[in-house]
Amino acid sequence: MCGIIGYVGKQNATNMLLHGLKKLEYRGYDSSGIAIIDSYNNFQIIKSIGKISELEFKINNNTIQKNNIGIGHTRWATHGIPNEVNAHPHECGDVILVHNGIIENYIEIKQELEKENVEFYTQTDTEVACAYINFIYSKEKDKIKCIKEATKHFKGSYALSIIFKDDINTIYATRLNSPLVIGISKDENFVSSDVSAFLKFTNKYILLNHLEYAKVSKDNVTIYNDNLEIIQNTINIANWSESEYEKSGYDHFMLKEIYEQPKVLKNIFNRYENEFKDIDISKYSNIHIVACGSAMHAGLIGKYLIENYLNIPVNVEIASEYRYKNTLINNNTLVIILSQSGETADTLAALKIAKEKNATTLAIVNVVGSSISREADKTIYTYAGPEIAVATTKGYTSQVAILISLILNKINDQKVLNELNNIDNILTNSVLNKIEEFKDIADKIYNKNDIFFIGRGIDYATCMEGSLKLKEISYIHSEAYPAGELKHGTISLIEDFTPVIAIATDKNIYEKTISNIKETKARGAYVIFITTEEFDTTDKFYDIKLVLPKTSNISSSLIVIPALQLISYYTAKNKNCDIDKPKNLAKSVTVE
Ligand code: F6R
Repeated sequence: MCGIIGYVGKQNATNMLLHGLKKLEYRGYDSSGIAIIDSYNNFQIIKSIGKISELEFKINNNTIQKNNIGIGHTRWATHGIPNEVNAHPHECGDVILVHNGIIENYIEIKQELEKENVEFYTQTDTEVACAYINFIYSKEKDKIKCIKEATKHFKGSYALSIIFKDDINTIYATRLNSPLVIGISKDENFVSSDVSAFLKFTNKYILLNHLEYAKVSKDNVTIYNDNLEIIQNTINIANWSESEYEKSGYDHFMLKEIYEQPKVLKNIFNRYENEFKDIDISKYSNIHIVACGSAMHAGLIGKYLIENYLNIPVNVEIASEYRYKNTLINNNTLVIILSQSGETADTLAALKIAKEKNATTLAIVNVVGSSISREADKTIYTYAGPEIAVATTKGYTSQVAILISLILNKINDQKVLNELNNIDNILTNSVLNKIEEFKDIADKIYNKNDIFFIGRGIDYATCMEGSLKLKEISYIHSEAYPAGELKHGTISLIEDFTPVIAIATDKNIYEKTISNIKETKARGAYVIFITTEEFDTTDKFYDIKLVLPKTSNISSSLIVIPALQLISYYTAKNKNCDIDKPKNLAKSVTVE
């Protein structure tokens, strides 16, 4: 949550900060702001509620002097409503800062400062952090020592980018449990939540570790460890190119990312022989798959596959619950952590708990160098490329594809391998091209208030993800149910024309699912039936039928999900929703 950016260098800082904030906007978009120091050494703070375009409008309507250093922030509110007062940067005395994370003990610190007559103007934890650093700075003039001394009192998570008013050539930064990278270029340097903000200018970056401190000027970056010794900078090279952060002619990033799936999945299955074939997850006595949201739904697919094909018990756990319960881990438990961003706070905390309890941890992550990838015993990257749309698409399917790859060596079925190696063609030629059919379904459901997704087995897991996709981008209430469970209560909500999206791809339970679909039809449901070419239905128990290619059970979710993503996409488009940035959400959930 929240994106932070800092720039110091030869170019106009305002423009560089705006560029960076636009790239980071997916991390939060309820308000934003920048602080710059102009050529007369004046500090100027400009803030706005709403999207970065509104901040840009405000900046363009202000007189701004030449400036070469500044910090900026795009916010996803945690403490205090989204307004200009609560927006970052915050200022107190000699200190101006932006923050990503949560200072959990801010009330305590605030009370301490109030005793010292410090006044507060906002509802944020960040203002308290700013005031506390300023308070320490009044006693400890060494800036790095001051930051260390202040932040050691902060509980929670933070990535901080700080300017001291008496040092107008330097940005200071530190972090704990929230991401922060430093972009390295000639005559200019950056501080940012991720590399996208500066990739247009440089692909060289330093990953700041927890409790490290950075001093960043135009032509120098010095990193200190927690003992305040200067440490060697390791310069990384980002493989993602700037063009991957563009819409490339698509109306939305979400649409672009849906259409990138054939290539992303093909790349994963191409890696099977060299990378995944020798990973043996069957040696563990039990497996926990821990994740949040869509990643957790990918875990549900993993559970079906691992239990069915490897006969190993699998618990799929929601990370925010896992971290606070008595997790029953033994020394033969494998904990698989799924996270596109690699920064989700709950998932990261769950990973730490699994490690404390001596489980072997395997992370499946998209963002290279992210916190989860660095903490896990082993990491498999999905290499899906940057995912900008807040609703995950290729991030999810790439997690499913890696989970599939981890069971393939035990199945050793050439037909399935061939099918997976041909997944790009199947998706491109027989799924993603059914645009008119997706639009037709979207036209039928976009003005409804409630929609149900039903399916059994692996189709139920797919329904969970289809339902989340629909509700998060179209704001239509939707629920996913195991088809056989509906009659135990929820069927009372089915009335005339209630849309029921029913999925049946598994021949072992096909007939059972059809019976459940008929039960909803008998109560007036408008049934959208999604099945495969394998099944010839003469019986008319549905209103619309979408027929997808026949695949093995192992690949079926990879075929069905892109169809559900596109139905959600066109439904949200019919409703004129902000598809890439749904309300109240943010891409990288770095708060609890
Ligand atoms: C939904 C969505 C979220 C994420 C969840 C976990 O479209 O994107 O539910 O899946 O917040 O995020 P990661 O995978 O980054 O840990």
